[in-house]
Amino acid sequence: MVCLGNICRSPTAHGVLEKLIQNKGLTDSIEVESAGTSTYHLGDHPDPRSIAAARRRGYSLEQQVARQVSPNDFEEFDYVLAMDIDNLHHLVSVAPGSSKAKVQLLLDYSAGATESVPDPYFGEDGQGFEKVLDLVEDACGRLLEQLQLELSISETEL
Ligand code: 4NP
Repeated sequence: MVCLGNICRSPTAHGVLEKLIQNKGLTDSIEVESAGTSTYHLGDHPDPRSIAAARRRGYSLEQQVARQVSPNDFEEFDYVLAMDIDNLHHLVSVAPGSSKAKVQLLLDYSAGATESVPDPYFGEDGQGFEKVLDLVEDACGRLLEQLQLELSISETEL
């Protein structure tokens, strides 16, 4: 999961998918991580408002520490999911060779028409943080269905 600062949107997506994976008992099969395209917040924990909004819905973000996306991420992970179009363009530009095909928008997996998870800092009364959670929860649920399908296919092939 990749956004700009790795202190709000991608940590939220990381925390939501991590919990869904735990709930399904799939922690041995699926790994999720997050990173930022920038170096602005390296080493920082997520924004306290993201942590608080996520906690109200049962997700834990406080252990996460911001880092920048690295070439190794494109090798290690099967999916590299951008929170917005700028993140997508950045990732495609730095992804080595054929791993460019791993880069997608997280909201490609959502039911709605929105392409990007909006930066939360502009909403009134902290509503931006709730909006991030609404979009991310919907997309992560559908993403996990896709991942489970892939796992069942690879088991059949064994
Ligand atoms: P994020 O939010 O990409 O969801 O972590 C941002 C955090 C920091 C900045 C921009 C977006 N910034 O410009 O410092």
